[in-house]
Parts: sequence; structure tokens; C-alpha cells
Amino acid sequence: MNSKEGRIPAHLQLKQDLDEGLAVFRFELEDRFLFQPGQYATLWLTHRGKTTPRPYSIASSPSETRVLEFYINLVDSGHLTSSFWNPEVLRSLQHRNNDTQLFISGPKGRFLLDPRESRDLVFVASGTGLAPFMSMVRKLNEDYLEASGTFCRRSVFIIHGASCPQHLGYRSELEHLAAETLADPSRRLAVTYLPTISRPRMDPSWTGLIGRAETLFDSCPASLSQGQNLQAAVRGMLNSILRPETHEVYICGYPGTIDNVVRLLSARGFKPDRDLKREKYFP
Ligand SMILES: Cc1cc2nc3c(=O)[nH]c(=O)nc-3n(C[C@H](O)[C@H](O)[C@H](O)COP(=O)(O)OP(=O)(O)OC[C@H]3O[C@@H](n4cnc5c(N)ncnc54)[C@H](O)[C@@H]3O)c2cc1C
Ligand SMILES: NC(=O)c1ccc[n+]([C@@H]2O[C@H](COP(=O)([O-])OP(=O)(O)OC[C@H]3O[C@@H](n4cnc5c(N)ncnc54)[C@H](OP(=O)(O)O)[C@@H]3O)[C@@H](O)[C@H]2O)c1
Repeated sequence: MNSKEGRIPAHLQLKQDLDEGLAVFRFELEDRFLFQPGQYATLWLTHRGKTTPRPYSIASSPSETRVLEFYINLVDSGHLTSSFWNPEVLRSLQHRNNDTQLFISGPKGRFLLDPRESRDLVFVASGTGLAPFMSMVRKLNEDYLEASGTFCRRSVFIIHGASCPQHLGYRSELEHLAAETLADPSRRLAVTYLPTISRPRMDPSWTGLIGRAETLFDSCPASLSQGQNLQAAVRGMLNSILRPETHEVYICGYPGTIDNVVRLLSARGFKPDRDLKREKYFP
């Protein structure tokens, strides 16, 4: 381990582009990195003599101790993310160039599942806010597969809001988990995946849920047209089953998503901190 504030040298194993400006990164570390699902790490990039640190939620399961996965979007004129989309930096991070180096420190953060909790879970993410939930659901699923007969029954709703279908990172992995639940109703870890698209005009072939993530908690407007039956059914279902006595809600991503979900669910008796856990990516 590098002694400088516990920073571990890392190099790029994989960058998987989902769309222009949206990618999954996997970094290989020179030492073990132990963390809990929901925590974040700080990435320290040194390029051309300047070091930029930024926090990123870890998307991988803690069972992977030498590789960390992150789900990152390019921010216009952003210091660190513009480097992560710079081919020269990416080449250096793959081949360990001394002028361009990445270190990873941490973990940090209290956006964690409480092991004493047995309530069902609702994960609400906008954009790359899905990252901590991937770590959580991957670990829950590993725990379930290890002890499927004794695993404490848990139902998890994953609501992911993105602008267009190409921005639904991890869609096939989550669809697969949801399909396993549908195929086996007795599965002790039940996953329901609810992706929703806020700019449906960008892809007229999309036939799923539309609107930002938080709109699923809106009470159903009476004027929904016939084409919006799915929308009405999902909102109605969430409205009828979500209660603070039975569900804990975790929200991550854009500040607007967090504020709106907290406002809508507070009106239904959910209390911030006790029932609503939050992780904001920027103020
Ligand atoms: C706990 C925590 C976990 C985080 N996890 C992730 C993650 O998993 N994936 C991820 O992509 N980002 C994540 N972020 C945001 C990340 O730390 C950086 O802020 C972001 O990548 C921008 O860094 P930058 O250096 O490119 O931009 P900067 O030069 O730092 O900032 C440019 C400006 O853009 C704003 N900004 C920051 N993020 C965004 C955004 N996503 N969209 C629009 N504007 C933004 C900032 O407020 C700032 O005003 C997380 C932040 C926190 C606090
Ligand atoms: N978005 C594009 O047109 C586009 C096109 C090509 C590439 N990209 C790249 O893809 C990356 C990810 O795109 P993205 O940022 O649009 O993320 P995204 O992952 O597609 O979606 C983020 C989700 O959060 C919503 N959102 C945004 N700001 C919010 C706020 N303040 N409050 C509540 N909800 C909010 C968005 O709604 P809205 O859709 O209503 O904003 C959308 O539903 C970007 O870095 C960009 O470089 C984007």
C-alpha cells in the first residue's frame, strides 16, 4: 500500500462506454480494498503535474477486493471526468505511465444497509446514482446464492431514472435478476426492476415507464391516457404497498431526485434518516 494517506496505486482494467459521456470503469488495485456496499472511494488522478481527487460510489461487490468498478458520467468542463474521457490519459492509466497516475483511497460513507433491518428495500437512482445500489444488490444476491434456503426474505425495488434507454446502465444485469424472481416466486431475494425514461422522444421505440424516477411516487393523475396504463399500474402498486412500517427507501443521484422523493414520501409518513436514506452527488 502507498503510505500517502492510504492511497493505493491503481490502473485501468476496462472502460466500457454505454453512450457518449457515460461509462463503466474497472480499476485494478495494487493492494486489497475492503468496503461495505454503498460506500465510496476517492479517485486521485495526477496528470501533467496536477492532482485532482473526486469521490465515486463503488458499483462492484465487496467480494471483489482487488478490482473496483465505478459508473461515471462526463460532466461538461469537469476537471476529473474530462481526463477520464481523454484517450492519452486512458492509455497511460492502462500502461502505468509515471506522468499520469491514479491512486484510490477510502472507503468512506454511511450510505449503508443496516444489517439489523428486515424491512423490504426501495432503491431510487437517477443517472449514475445507480452505482451504490449495484454494489448492494450484487452483495445481497451473492449472500442469497450462498445460503438460498436460510436467506432472510427480502424484496428489493430498483427504480432507475435516465434520460434515454442507452443511459440505463446495468439494464441487462438487473433485467436478468428480475426475470429470475419472476421465474421463481418463492425466491427469497425478490428483485423488481423499474427503469424509467425522462426524454422518451429521444427513442420512440421505448414502450416502458416514462418520466423522472420520482414521478413514480406521484399520486396517479386521473387524466392518464390509455397508452399510460403501465404508468398508472406501477404508480398504483407503489402507492398501495409502500409503507414506512414495511419499506426502507434509499435515494441516490441528482439533488432534485432526492429532494422530490423525500417530499413525496414524507407526505406519506416516511421520515428522513429513519425511513429515507440519501446520498447526494453534488450540492
Ligand atoms: C459521495 C459521492 C459519490 C459520487 N459518486 C459518483 C458516481 O458514482 N458517479 C459519478 O458520475 N459521479 C459521482 N459523484 C460526483 C463526482 O464526485 C464528481 O463531482 C463528478 O464526477 C464531477 O467531477 P469533475 O471533476 O469532472 O467536475 P468538477 O470540475 O468538479 O465540477 C464541475 C461542476 O459540475 C457539477 N457536477 C458534479 N457532478 C455532476 C453531474 N453528475 N452532472 C452535472 N453536474 C455535475 C459540480 O457541482 C460542479 O459545479 C459522486 C459525488 C459524491 C459526493
Ligand atoms: N442527456 C443527453 O441528452 C445526453 C446525450 C448524449 C450523451 N450524454 C452523456 O451522458 C451522460 C449522462 O447523461 P444525463 O446527465 O442526462 O444522465 P442520465 O443518466 O441519462 O439521466 C439522469 C436522470 O436524472 C434526471 N435529472 C437530471 N437532473 C435532475 C435534477 N436536477 N433533478 C431531478 N432529476 C434530474 C434526468 O432527467 P431529465 O432527462 O429530465 O434531465 C434523467 O432522468 C452525460 O454526462 C452526458 O455527457 C447525454
